[in-house]
Amino acid sequence: MKIGIIGSGNVGGALGKIWIKNGHEVMFSSRRPEKLKTLAESFGKNAHIGTPAEAANFADIVVLAVPWTNAFEALKSAGSLEGKILIDCTNPLKPDYSGLAVGYNNSAAEEVAKLVPGAKVVKAFNSTFADIMNSESRMFDSLNPSGFYCGNDISAKKVVAELIRETGLEPVDTGALSSARYLEPLAMLMITLGFGMGMGSSIALKLLKR
Ligand SMILES: NC(=O)c1ccc[n+]([C@@H]2O[C@H](COP(=O)([O-])OP(=O)(O)OC[C@H]3O[C@@H](n4cnc5c(N)ncnc54)[C@H](OP(=O)(O)O)[C@@H]3O)[C@@H](O)[C@H]2O)c1
Repeated sequence: MKIGIIGSGNVGGALGKIWIKNGHEVMFSSRRPEKLKTLAESFGKNAHIGTPAEAANFADIVVLAVPWTNAFEALKSAGSLEGKILIDCTNPLKPDYSGLAVGYNNSAAEEVAKLVPGAKVVKAFNSTFADIMNSESRMFDSLNPSGFYCGNDISAKKVVAELIRETGLEPVDTGALSSARYLEPLAMLMITLGFGMGMGSSIALKLLKR
């Protein structure tokens, strides 16, 4: 698949690297693409660099992994995403990390969807720390973390579930895009545990079933 990354930082960089290893073609983007040259060269021939608009144009699947405060501007610069899958990884954190800027009766994912008419928005990867995605393996002894996701388009969710599995997480479908109202607070919980309660960022969530 062709995947375009808008926001090639901790999250976007880690995901792109894993997907390249799995044989996908990935275009990493930046407002200053030249700064990604060394990164892309180290990832081999399936890694490309470009602007957000070039990454969006290149890809069937676009990943949004920018700070929430820059999300609207980043999507605007990407241009039309009509017909494409947009994976929204953002967390709408208040600047002082005291809560979610969109409140708890709304979500970043739903706000993003309004900005990209015709795109199939799937929320994913927002509740897993980038440190986990950047480490050698996703395994915690014999368990791998859950990769919670949600969206309104069933076929887009199937594609994203496979990408989640490829990253080493166990995909867990949480329903319609409005379930992002639960997934984004989950990220807030992880930040509270990791930094407020001193557990650090080598922690992850696992849904247990029996
Ligand atoms: N860090 C985590 O553990 C984690 C985990 C899950 C979800 N998240 C969420 O994922 C998102 C990204 O987090 P991160 O930690 O990966 O951030 P980051 O390392 O700061 O990377 C963000 C990237 O966004 C790009 N960017 C910023 N403004 C942009 C714009 N207007 N247009 C295009 N690109 C822009 C920057 O690239 P240039 O400056 O090169 O343009 C930068 O590389 C956030 O919403 C965060 O809440 C983070």
